[in-house]
Amino acid sequence: MSANLRGSGEAPGRVNLLGEHTDYNDGFVLPAAIPQRTRVQAEGAGGFLLQALGRGMPFRLDAAPAEQPAKYVYGCIKELEALGIAVPPMRFQVDSDVPIGVGLSSSAALEVATLRALRAALGLSLDDVAIARLAQRAEVRHAGVRCGIMDQMAASLAQPGTMLFLDTRSLERRLLPLPEGAALAVVDSGVERSLAASGYNERRAQCEAAARELGVPALRDVASPRALERLPEPLRRRARHVVSENCRVLSALGADAATFGRLMDASHASLRDDFEVSTRELDTLVECLRAQPDVLGARLTGAGFGGACVALCRAGTARAAAEAALARYGGAGRVLVA
Ligand code: GLA
Repeated sequence: MSANLRGSGEAPGRVNLLGEHTDYNDGFVLPAAIPQRTRVQAEGAGGFLLQALGRGMPFRLDAAPAEQPAKYVYGCIKELEALGIAVPPMRFQVDSDVPIGVGLSSSAALEVATLRALRAALGLSLDDVAIARLAQRAEVRHAGVRCGIMDQMAASLAQPGTMLFLDTRSLERRLLPLPEGAALAVVDSGVERSLAASGYNERRAQCEAAARELGVPALRDVASPRALERLPEPLRRRARHVVSENCRVLSALGADAATFGRLMDASHASLRDDFEVSTRELDTLVECLRAQPDVLGARLTGAGFGGACVALCRAGTARAAAEAALARYGGAGRVLVA
């Protein structure tokens, strides 16, 4: 047992402001770090053990664990192994306030924090982009979600109080200020979602089918929305969302708060009507947020099918606006960030 090995790492959850379901189409995204974070303490032990959510989850490297949180940690270790880095038996102690199952990337925060803890414990030379790539592969290969790289890049590189503009093809990125005079509110709809079970992989397959039919490497490469006219439905609607969403991200760069808010509203409409990943509850919550005079725009955030909504509010009004929207919503929602 390597009891002298010890290292810790942490990473934030993220809220995506614009650029939904664009990352696995090589497109553009605009997430921000949320204040909630995940911390992982790793230390040498007699066997592999994850301590999280008030329980101990022992696991081995010769079989994928059944429990979801253990799959993420196991996946990170297997991806290091694939690079030729052997990880000795360790205990991982997780402490997190990132809400789970609401679209704020608790899994990416756990993966990135785990890899950072392993980097510290084993003295690995991995930069933040290498960590994000490993974390994404851990999720795709070991947790069964064919996710893009937005969440892991955000957990690894986003900074509080800014937005991360990321080109998911080149991984070129810039940290940008939030629109002047604006602040964020994140509100949970109270309806849980599960990525793998929720049609996420189906949407991704439809996007890939649309790109194949159009003869482009990815929907990022569609030059004009008119090119989509020859696609059969529902591929045309799916592709129209991706193409228009990429334009919205680019239009948001440097936009004033009112314009940014309108782009968020349009993003929600596109996710609801063209990509069909909204729910009745999310639509209602978005309407309740928009009914607040200090809300400039609102949309579902993350993959959809339940989870949270994000609103752009006039600075200093986010909490009051989120609470007033929830009172009107009347469901089991809660304010997560304001
Ligand atoms: C999930 C995935 C991301 C991204 C979003 C939708 O969060 O993990 O890669 O595809 O959904 O934008």
